[in-house]
Parts: sequence; C-alpha cells; structure tokens
Amino acid sequence: MDGKKALIASSLRKEPVSVTRKMAAALPELRRLAAGKGLKIHHLGAGYPHPEVTDPRGFLEHKTLYFEHLTKTASDTKLGIIPEYLRESYAYTDTLGPVSVRKNFARVYGADWEFPMKPENLIPTIGASGGINLMCSLFERPGVEIAYITDAPTYAGFITRAQLANQTNIYSVDMDSEGPIIEQLICQIESARSNGRLVPFYYTIPDGHNPGGFSFSAKRRNEIIEVMRNYDILILEDAPYVYISYAEENERPRPFVALDPSRTVHLFTGSKIGFPGPRVGFLYTEANIEISDEEIVPLRDLLLTESSSDILFHNPEALYAFESMLHDENMEPLPSLWPVAREKQIIYSENRNIIMQGLSDGLGKFPERYSWTIPQAGFFTVFRFHDSKIVTDDVFVNWLVSEYGIVVIPMFDFYPEDARLRNPQAGLSELRLSFCFSESFGDDRRRDLADSIKAFCDAILRI
Ligand SMILES: Cc1ncc(COP(=O)(O)O)c(C=O)c1O
Repeated sequence: MDGKKALIASSLRKEPVSVTRKMAAALPELRRLAAGKGLKIHHLGAGYPHPEVTDPRGFLEHKTLYFEHLTKTASDTKLGIIPEYLRESYAYTDTLGPVSVRKNFARVYGADWEFPMKPENLIPTIGASGGINLMCSLFERPGVEIAYITDAPTYAGFITRAQLANQTNIYSVDMDSEGPIIEQLICQIESARSNGRLVPFYYTIPDGHNPGGFSFSAKRRNEIIEVMRNYDILILEDAPYVYISYAEENERPRPFVALDPSRTVHLFTGSKIGFPGPRVGFLYTEANIEISDEEIVPLRDLLLTESSSDILFHNPEALYAFESMLHDENMEPLPSLWPVAREKQIIYSENRNIIMQGLSDGLGKFPERYSWTIPQAGFFTVFRFHDSKIVTDDVFVNWLVSEYGIVVIPMFDFYPEDARLRNPQAGLSELRLSFCFSESFGDDRRRDLADSIKAFCDAILRI
C-alpha cells in the first residue's frame, strides 16, 4: 500500500472469476508445460467463433458498398449535404438506434420465426451480455430481494452478472434431456416466493444450450410457457445459437419469442451469426408489467429508460454495418437471416460431425462408462463419465492439458451455488467439449479437430 491509506469501500465484494476466464488465464502456463513435452494443443475448450468464418474482410467490403449505396440513394446527398446514415453514424442518436436498422431486422427476424415483430419494441444492446445486464439492473434497481430462476447448469456470464447484486439469489432447476424439470421449476418459484423474493424472470438458452449442449424439446417449451403464465413470470430467452442450427428446416423448434412475445424477453446477438467485435445485439419484448400503484406499462419503456441511463445509445455505425448484412450483393433486402448463417452453419456442422463421429468411434463401445449430448444447435456437447470415482475438477482438466495438450472446460462451475448444495457432485463427472474453435482452416481444421477428439478419447481410455 506504500504507506498510503486505501479508500474504504467495505460494502464491495470481490466476485469469483468464471471458469472460462480461469481457464483462459491458466492456459499460457499450461501450454508452456505441454509445449515443453512436445505436445500439440487440442482445442476443445474455447467457445469462440471460428476464425475461418470470422474473417472481417468480406464483411468490410460489403459494408463499404452498402454505405455507398446509402449515399447514392439518400435524398440529402442530392441536396449536397451529408447523407443521413453518415451524419447519424457519428452523432448522438436515439437510444433505440436508427429506425431503418430496426425495421430491416424486424422484417427478416419476424419472417424467419413466423411472428409479426415490431421494430419499435427492439432495443439495441451491447451483445446478448448487454441484454442480460439490462434486465438484471432494471429489476435490481428498487433494492428488493430477488430470485433469478435459471437452469442448472447455466451460462457462466449470467451467473457472474446475477452475483453482482447483493440482494439476488439464484434458484436453479435441474434439467433432463428435454429441458428444465417442470416440477422442480414450479417448486423453485414457490420456494423463492415463500422466501419473500420477487421472481422477475426465468433465464435460459433453449437452443444450443451453453453449457448444456442440447436444445429444449418443443413440448417442454410449451410446458415452460404454461408455468410462466400461471405464475406471471417472464422468460428471458438468450438466443445466440438459434441460427447455428443442425436441425432440418421443418424440425427447428420455435423460440419462446415466437410462441409468446408478450411473456418473453428475447436476446438476439450478432456475435455468432456475424462478428462479436462490433457488439451488436437487440432485446425484444412485447411484455407489459405492473408497477407501483397497479399501473400497467410496457416493459420496453422501462428498459429503454434503463438503457438510456446506461449506454445512452449504441454505436450507430456498428448498427448500420449490421444493416448491410441484411442486404444482398445487389443491395436488395434479404428475406431471411438463414443465408447469412449458411457459411457458418457449414463449418460448425462439419466440426460437430467430426466430434460426434470421433466420440462414437473412440468411446461408443462403452455406453455403460461414458455418454455425451447430441447438440441440435450451438457449439458444445457435454461429456459424462458414469464412473463416480472420476472427478472432473480443476486438477483433472489441468492434467489433461499438461499431460496430453487437451483443453476442455470443467462443468462444475456452471452449476449455481444452490445446485451444488443440492448435489455436491453436480458437474463433477462432466466436461464441456466445444467444437467451434481451432487455429487452422479448411482441411487442416478438419484434420486438427479429428486429431483432437481422437487424442481426447485415447486419454479418457487411459484413465
Ligand atoms: C449463452 C450465451 N449468452 C451470451 C453470450 C455472450 O454473447 P454476446 O457476445 O452477444 O454478448 C454467449 C457467448 O458465448 C453465450 O454462449
């Protein structure tokens, strides 16, 4: 402290670091150890988009052409003044962002998921993370005790955000192969309410669950909606992977927002279908909410005020650049986002097949010893040991890196605290394997991934 007195802020706490961040921090040293032994690093841990589908150069060219198109077609240009998009891109704008961006997005998203999406109900966010933050901060603001209902396991970023507020507790719900267990969902809501807590929403990732490695069945989605209607609770639907889907077109389950937009707060992000860097996201809801004095107001209005005092407004240039993705090479509006996702889907679906095939070839003979989830969307599968003597803790995953160069993420940290109290073994027989990232392209990518999953299976068989 150099003899200087520190500022006293005894009400602040140091929050635990998430498992993915811990792994990222430990990786350089583990890599060094692995390299010292002449081992190749096998990436089955990182949840990042693949560099093969996130080369920004094509996007930048398209964006430039789109901006030229906007300049040519803008009526202001004809008058010799700065085109509207350019002026707005570098100015203070509305918290809602440019109207045209929301109109274009609502048109394609509504068409893809078959519901009439209203542009005025879209609020730009800093990725899906910004949407999570906005919802949490809105409900935390009055200072009452809160219960967030979520799955066990759930997204690490949500746990981290939820834990920031002293007055919040997570009430988690175990899942089976179709989604959260309905009886437990009901029990958790009732228990939170009987403990005097406000239950504003149930947070989930129904498509390509991170880290669950599966998608909820259509039946379970309807059952969840039924519960949420009965208890008057919102569904906070985090949807980064809806377009990274491996299901046949007619078998894609509909997201909650399409099933009941008045019960759902839907978080779209451009991070997986486009690029994470520009931090483009949208929150969408048609929900109304009863506030003080029994007044009923659109939730969107409250969130908009929250957002305006938080980020004030999203980077307008990034939003216009996102708008360019909603147009084809002739600058005609695209009817759907599926063509935008296509290139990504091809790569991730190839990667997924390599991982599924590798696991089945290497370990499929031992269903009594191991199992894994079959992802219908997203980046992950959960691998399970049936032998309770194997404990997939930090020591175990560090050993996989240092002995075999294999990077995977342990699951236990994705289980909220209450889930680990219910079952102290929660997640300690599971690993999250990701198939989204490698350092190589094309045939090298395919070969590296096949090598990685083979190395993983070999290491597991040696345990
Ligand atoms: C479930 C989930 N939510 C949110 C995010 C963060 O997304 P964004 O980049 O849009 O903030 C991720 C990223 O991996 C995720 O898996």
